[in-house]
Amino acid sequence: MSEVAVEWVEVATLDDLWCGDMLGVEVEGEQILLVYPNGGAIRAYHGLCPHQQALLINGDLEENVLTCYGHHWQFDVISGQGINPRNSRLSSYEVKLEGNSIYVGIPKMADTNRRDRTDPCPPRLCEYGYRVATTDRDQPCPYG
Ligand code: FES
Repeated sequence: MSEVAVEWVEVATLDDLWCGDMLGVEVEGEQILLVYPNGGAIRAYHGLCPHQQALLINGDLEENVLTCYGHHWQFDVISGQGINPRNSRLSSYEVKLEGNSIYVGIPKMADTNRRDRTDPCPPRLCEYGYRVATTDRDQPCPYG
């Protein structure tokens, strides 16, 4: 497994994120979901649902299962694995604690889920106002 160089960014403290809870943060325009599962270490995931990009922080977290508010896809927040549907998965970031501070490792190289101002393929919204994943293999980019 190749190691990806990351830049560690302090995103919150343990005063902001309690056990059994989650927190949405933004780093350089990227939405990140922090989760502190019961019985597990803090996790960081890409903050937009892999289905149709709804903000995961608006979902429900119960017994370490995150249910997206968009269309109720469910994810195990300890592994990031999809529960319903099983073939989905949350994209994760590395996390480390230093004292009271929570750091997330932001990959330095281009990531297919990340968008920046030079991205030639702008996000678009579906009829419900969700961002549509234009880089998803199942949805070819309509902008070419
Ligand atoms: S946007 Fe999350 S389930 Fe559809």
